[in-house]
Amino acid sequence: MPRSRHEATRVETTVDGLRRWRNQIKSSIGLVPTMGALHEGHLTLVRQARRENDLVAVSIFVNPTQFDEQHDFAAYPRDLESDLRLLREQQVELVFVPPVEEMYPAGFATSIDVAGLSEPLEGEFRPGHFRGVATVVARLLTLFQPTRAYFGRKDYQQLIIIQRMVRDLGMPISIVGSPTVREVDGLAFSSRNRLLTPVERAAAARIPEAIIQARTLFQAGERAAGWICQVVSDELAKEPLIEIEYVTIRNGETLAEQAVLDPTSVLLIAVRIGNVRLIDNLIFSE
Ligand code: PAJ
Repeated sequence: MPRSRHEATRVETTVDGLRRWRNQIKSSIGLVPTMGALHEGHLTLVRQARRENDLVAVSIFVNPTQFDEQHDFAAYPRDLESDLRLLREQQVELVFVPPVEEMYPAGFATSIDVAGLSEPLEGEFRPGHFRGVATVVARLLTLFQPTRAYFGRKDYQQLIIIQRMVRDLGMPISIVGSPTVREVDGLAFSSRNRLLTPVERAAAARIPEAIIQARTLFQAGERAAGWICQVVSDELAKEPLIEIEYVTIRNGETLAEQAVLDPTSVLLIAVRIGNVRLIDNLIFSE
């Protein structure tokens, strides 16, 4: 049955309020966890959740425990008014915007570590990051008990860590990975893009260009990981504002380094442009 246009988006800021909403629902719920500063990438997840579930819930919480750098947490863009407007337009049924004390009440002592998958790449450059992500996502999934939860493949390592966690803990929730949504010049939408100066934003366009080169090589039959990474690094290096953190091709399930591509292979990229850190990837099988 189509939902009435008059039904308003409910905003809850407390765990008790969220529980009261949750307890009266019997239909399927699609949850989209976010840190706000919403963009088209987030909204695409919301639309997918809308198609696949009776009700859609979105959480907005800039999770302090997943920031390894204080200045990054402080600088993280926040725009609740615009976020709520966008979510009302999507007729999202519930938005959960908890203050820190609701997510981490006094005495909070539990953390979740997904060993192995959390260690390389983002785990190496951002120590403790995935412990913060896994813990907050586990808490959100427990509180919401959604039917499905939606995550972007843009944050590839995050996605497979959450899939691993849900499988390991036996959470009865399906984790859906959605394709990366890109701006017109190919740069992946990211809340952090709005922290780039115009000059830095122009420089960032080199990232999708490098990814296209990798895809072109792959489509021409190239399977040597070292060579593809070299071409990608050279392309990125043409832009002096880009500082490469890693360019690597990994097994898409284990994140093990590989010399020769296999059907799971993923190219993973992390760069810094000024103070802003950006990640992107290419899933070769897509
Ligand atoms: P955030 O960066 O706000 O992203 C929320 C979700 O949107 C993530 O699943 C992310 O992968 C997805 N997303 C971001 N940009 C996207 C794009 N261009 N295309 C497709 N999906 C995109 O990721 C987080 O928040 C946090 O770590 C969180 C999971 C909420 C835990 O705090």
